[in-house]
Amino acid sequence: MKIGILGLGTVGGGVVKILLDSIGRNPILSGIKIVRIGVRDIGKVRLVSLTGNQLTTQLGEIVNDPEIDLIVEVMGGLEPARSLILQAINNGKHIVTANKSLIAAHGLEILALARDKKVCVAFEAAVGGGIPVIQCLQKSLGANRIHKITGIVNGTTNYILSQMAHKGVSYDKALADATAQGYAEADPTADVDGIDAAEKLSVLTLVGLDSWVSSKKISRLGIRSISEKDITYAKAMNCTIKLLANAHLRESDNLQLDVQPYLVENAHPLASINDAFNAIFIEGEPIGQVMLYGQGAGEGATASAVVSDIINIASSTATWQNANAEPDQAKSISQEINSNFYIRILTEQKATAAGAIAWSFGDFQVAPRAIQQQIIDEGLLEIVIVTELVLKTKLDGAINSIRGLPYVKEIANVIPILKA
Ligand SMILES: NC(=O)c1ccc[n+]([C@@H]2O[C@H](COP(=O)([O-])OP(=O)(O)OC[C@H]3O[C@@H](n4cnc5c(N)ncnc54)[C@H](OP(=O)(O)O)[C@@H]3O)[C@@H](O)[C@H]2O)c1
Repeated sequence: MKIGILGLGTVGGGVVKILLDSIGRNPILSGIKIVRIGVRDIGKVRLVSLTGNQLTTQLGEIVNDPEIDLIVEVMGGLEPARSLILQAINNGKHIVTANKSLIAAHGLEILALARDKKVCVAFEAAVGGGIPVIQCLQKSLGANRIHKITGIVNGTTNYILSQMAHKGVSYDKALADATAQGYAEADPTADVDGIDAAEKLSVLTLVGLDSWVSSKKISRLGIRSISEKDITYAKAMNCTIKLLANAHLRESDNLQLDVQPYLVENAHPLASINDAFNAIFIEGEPIGQVMLYGQGAGEGATASAVVSDIINIASSTATWQNANAEPDQAKSISQEINSNFYIRILTEQKATAAGAIAWSFGDFQVAPRAIQQQIIDEGLLEIVIVTELVLKTKLDGAINSIRGLPYVKEIANVIPILKA
């Protein structure tokens, strides 16, 4: 099989290294030949040794080259990646991409064209770096009805929350550490606001629940509001705060999707996933529960996933065409969660404050399971409430009413609890 690669950065460089050093790996790799590699700056010093005239800045020539069977897209971004991939598919080439943003935004269009042209589009590296979650959902768990996928799919935020929990540092200090370690970008918005996790959830929903939902339609809340106080209360409740991406097929035609911080009970396997690691917890019938764990990013892990897609396509394109079956777009999308919630409220120091807040919850049929309060400053009371199971919409009504009480200064956080 002859391949063209778009991009020779972190992931592209890792892919080339594996392909140029195939001894001891899958024997199919010895039959893969790199024909051309597209980059932006041809004069840049490269860490991989290339022979001949493989590098080009003319990426259109690669996707139009009749000699090439498969295009590896590891350049990132939406354009020109989307147009180049569509052009390559129109030319009958198979596609391997690591680009979750592209699949989350244009997956439907790309997969539809691929079905039409009878080529494969594979994107194992788009979620969970080296964790083989896409192939697992598509093939290894293919006998199951998957109904729930819960993932820690963003290493940067997991690193930040782990630092806060284990080193007792503030969000700002943990973010600065993540930047210094190379886990966070100079602009961390996509990670800390849950945009990256929502894109990955869109991809997981596509392959695991056979449903197409653009990441823009997924309700998301990032981790900026998590304070040392929340971490401390979570610990006291035997929980750990994690940014989770959830897809739950509640009925055959209703999907609940959300990305937000959760208090995860420590007995749940996801609570023990620390630092920049990722994990995806899958629930299906008849298998029950499966958790996949590993490096969610980085050159080696991501290149491993990209090359596994190349091997799969080179070995069996027929099976892979089936993996691009038309996804369902008809399901209704719900942001509604039925959960226990942790709520932290700051009020003026009033003896009746906790009682009045409990009454307000009662008015909305929200039952508090536990209430604790402490004076945290001169004249300032902190009240933490854990609710019984309640629908988020019902809770929102109570929270809005409590926000209007005269002595309530701030609803500091409302976080659902994931039980073990
Ligand atoms: N890095 C990870 O750990 C990781 C993990 C999972 C998924 N991914 C995904 O993998 C993809 C690549 O990520 P990366 O970290 O390898 O990116 P990167 O290091 O920034 O590399 C991008 C490569 O693409 C080339 N490129 C970008 N835009 C181009 C354009 N318009 N024309 C020609 N060449 C262009 C660059 O050329 P020059 O070298 O000449 O600048 C560079 O070689 C992204 O979709 C990313 O989301 C990355």
